[in-house]
This record gives sequence, C-alpha cells and structure tokens, in this order.
Amino acid sequence: MTPDRIASAALRAKVMSAEDAAGLIPVGANVAMSGFTGAGYPKAVPGALARRMTAATAAGETLRVNVWTGASTAPELDGALAEADGIELRLPYQSDPVTRKKINAGTMEYLDTHLSHVAQMVWMGFLGAVDIAVVEVAGIDADGRLVPSSSVGNNKTWIDRADRVILEVNSWQSEGLRGMHDVYYGTALPPDRVPIPITGPADRIGVPHLECPADKVIAVVPTDAPDRNSGFAPPDTVSRRIAGHVLDFLTAEVRRGRLPDRLLPIQSGVGNIANAVLAGLAEGPFAGLSAYTEVIQDGMLDLLDSGTLATASATALSFSPGTVQRFNASAADYRDRIVLRPQEISNHPEVVRRLGVIAMNGMIEADVYGNVNSTHLMGSRIQNGIGGSGDFARNGYLSIFLSPSTAKDGAISAIVPMVSHVDHTEHDVDIVVTEQGLADLRGLSPKQRAEQVIAHCAHPDYRPALRDYHERALASAYGRHTPHLLTEALSWHARFVETGTMRRP
Ligand code: COA
Repeated sequence: MTPDRIASAALRAKVMSAEDAAGLIPVGANVAMSGFTGAGYPKAVPGALARRMTAATAAGETLRVNVWTGASTAPELDGALAEADGIELRLPYQSDPVTRKKINAGTMEYLDTHLSHVAQMVWMGFLGAVDIAVVEVAGIDADGRLVPSSSVGNNKTWIDRADRVILEVNSWQSEGLRGMHDVYYGTALPPDRVPIPITGPADRIGVPHLECPADKVIAVVPTDAPDRNSGFAPPDTVSRRIAGHVLDFLTAEVRRGRLPDRLLPIQSGVGNIANAVLAGLAEGPFAGLSAYTEVIQDGMLDLLDSGTLATASATALSFSPGTVQRFNASAADYRDRIVLRPQEISNHPEVVRRLGVIAMNGMIEADVYGNVNSTHLMGSRIQNGIGGSGDFARNGYLSIFLSPSTAKDGAISAIVPMVSHVDHTEHDVDIVVTEQGLADLRGLSPKQRAEQVIAHCAHPDYRPALRDYHERALASAYGRHTPHLLTEALSWHARFVETGTMRRP
C-alpha cells in the first residue's frame, strides 16, 4: 500500500512488518520516537513492541525501555507501552491517562523538561546514547531524503544521534505536507554556537526534509493510519469570558501604543481554554497577525482561513479528527503560510525573545504573588508536564497565564496563598487571567501583585479567605516583602487532600 511513498530502492529493500521491526529493539534501550501531541508519532511499531512486552511478562521476563519523544503522543504509543508496563523512564512531556497513572503510582520514572532543551541534552550526552530511533515520515525520496509528517519535534536530533533508525512511512499523511517543513541543520554546541537567523515568524532557514544515512536505517514499516488528536469542547461561558478578558487587554495595549496593530507573534498553549482564546481572536478586531508557537490547533487553522492570521510557525499540526480531514484535503494550499520546524527552533528562547512573542498558556494554579504551577495537582501528582510553556513564558514579550478560577465544581480554588509546585516564578509571569478578570502584574511589587490577583482573578467564594490570609501575613509574617504564614501557606491543599475541598468547614 505505501511503496509509492518509498522511492529509494535501498530503503524499499528494508521494508518489514511492525512485529519484525519491534523485535530489533533491545531490552533496556533508549528509544527515541517521533510524535508531538497526537501528530506524527509512529502508529505500528510501538503497539508491536507493547505486545512483545506483554508476552515477555507472561513468560516471566521483563522487557522495558526508556521512551523519549517530542512531546505527548497518543494511545497507540504512550497508552500501549504504559499499559504493557514497558516504560522505565519517559521524557519530556506526556498527557496520556495510563502513563500519568503509572507515573503517579511510582512505577514509571518521568523526566519533565523544557521542550527546547531536549535536543541539547541529547547532543551533550546528558541522557545517554540514543540506541534506536523510531520515526514516522510521510515519504522517502529516491535519494533517501525523508519527507517529515505532521510533526517535526525532535526527529532531526533523534536521527542524527541514533545508532539505528526504524522508519514508519505513513501514507495517510497528506502529500501536501511536502515543502511545509523547515529543518535547520545549523545548530551547534557551545562554544561554537551562532545566532539562529530567524527575524520573522515565517522565515525559512533550513531544508524541507530530514537527512538520514541509508545504512543507519534497519527497518522500514509502511503504515496507513490517522493521527489521533482529541477534539475540543466548544467554548463555554467560562472560557469565553477568559478569552474576552484577553482580547480586551490586547486591544487596550494597542490603543496605548504598547503593541502594534498586528500585535506581536502569538503563542497559544494546549487545551480548551487556549482554543477558546483563538476563537475569541477570530471575533476580535485584529487581522494579519502571525504566530510563533508550538502547535497549530483547530482555532489557529480557522484564523488562517479567515485571514486574522497571516502566517504560523510551529512544530506540529494538532487538529481534531474533523479538522484534520479538511486540512489534509488542501494541505498544499497552506504551504506558504505554515512553517513546521524542529522543536528546538519553534521554541527557541533566543528567537522567542527576538520576535517578542505574546505567550498564552494554561495553568493549574497561581498564587497571590503571581507564581504559577502548570504541572502538579496538590504538589505531588503530575498532570501533564511543563511542555513548552517555560520556553515561551520566560522569554516572551508578554507572558499570560489562563485558568478558570475554580476546579472540581468549586472545591478547588485556582488562586491560592502559595502554589504547591512552581513552574513559572513571579519573575516570569506578567498577566494572570480567570473568568473573574485579568490581573496585570507588570511593574508591581509582591504586595501590590497580591492585591490585584485577589481582586481580579479569585472566585468570590474564595476571595475573603485570600484577603484574610494576606492581611494576617502582612501583619505577622517573618518579613513583609512577600509575606507568608508558613504553617498556613499550603493548608488549602492539605485540606483538599484530607476532606475533598479547599473550602473551610
Ligand atoms: N488543582 C487541582 N486540580 C486541578 C486544578 C487545580 N488548581 N485545576 C485544574 N485541575 C484539574 C481539572 O479538574 C482536570 O481534572 P480531570 O482531568 O480529573 O477533569 C485537570 O486538572 C485538567 O484541567 P483542565 O481544566 O481540563 O485543563 P486544561 O485542558 O485547560 O489544561 C493544563 C490545563 C495546565 C493542565 C495544561 O494547560 C497544561 O498541561 N499546561 C502545561 C503545558 C503547556 O502549557 N503547554 C503549552 C506550551 S506550548
């Protein structure tokens, strides 16, 4: 079925079944796989490997590997391997329910790291050798060059650093993807590093293919299987109100001359709230915008279609099942307006700073001083991971964090006296937004920030308790710069763990 997509005779000779290819993965290997969100991940080899693992367990043996990817993947990869108890260590970002359960049960190690850092860590050898790479591509040209599929992620690094490479050639991926990618081969390690020559979001600085010496390739597996991204919930009242606050803020910044009419390149995080903000932009006054972001999701495609967005740079296409069909049918039409790059470039701190990106990301909770937790529930339980939020928030021109003011039907306040885990410190957070309102923390001292966050972002049910905490802390804390009552600071979380609610009896 896929041989059309495999034009290289040398690589066509290496075609085999997923089972045979999975059999080439050694026990304990560091296996670097493609995939960024439910896009561009290998569809067949991970499942075959999982079946091998299950059979090994039944025979009283243990077959586990370390799994590295671009970011989250899909049930056929993370879900299948986690279900088989086959992952020793996972990095750098996941959002799979089975994987999450194993990590939180302590049976899987998880290294949550900034997505732009992974390539460097691998090149420097911090993580050990890449024993084998399993990479999905959309095609192989006659000269052996690889046409990337719907995500680029860490694939360049995986292929460059791996001893052996397994390729999955997926004929489901649109042929129109050809030419959309920009794979930069100019990165180097310190002290030889040079500037990344991107001065505009749509700049192309590399080549449209991945390079891989044919002798590294030990197997080629044809597939014909769809990417799997979940759909988005239609924006509800809460997410619409959050989007409305963001839109009002951006409009006011333009009016005050602090942002150009076309704004600055936007970055939008994952999830329903981020998607709702994009939907809000579609209804707003802006046109001709650009995006320098990590994933292009449904809302962003709509913006490209309407002309609100002129160009978008990312590392992955993360569309819901309905939207992906629309996109695949006319992918070639987007080639001049979408650039897909390796994640070390899509999320590159130097470029994010140069372009002045407006970073908009979801959060789990923020504290009154503006510290943000994006990853942990009650301090100990991982939800997903930091993903690219730190790459953009730390280096952007504006760093905006979004969340409903409460979770679990109001049993949890997303605004707390002290966050139970810190991903983004008060120094990296400019704006906090909930459906209650928007707190602009720029230029404010910690005490001033607390007043804004409590007044504008906290849910009315929790506002008096936050005020009470802050006032008592101001009166009696050890210091009055960032006053805390240490025995109480995390008591809201402790109460939730003990009683199922943060509310006081
Ligand atoms: N305390 C405890 N649990 C909370 C909570 C809080 N303050 N806030 C939310 N939750 C729970 C929700 O109830 C939900 O639980 P459920 O799965 O049992 O229903 C879960 O956390 C996810 O919340 P939800 O509101 O559905 O999250 P989301 O889809 O809007 O995502 C993040 C929010 C923070 C998890 C998500 O944005 C994320 O993973 N961010 C980090 C990575 C990132 O920013 N990437 C983008 C960079 S480009």
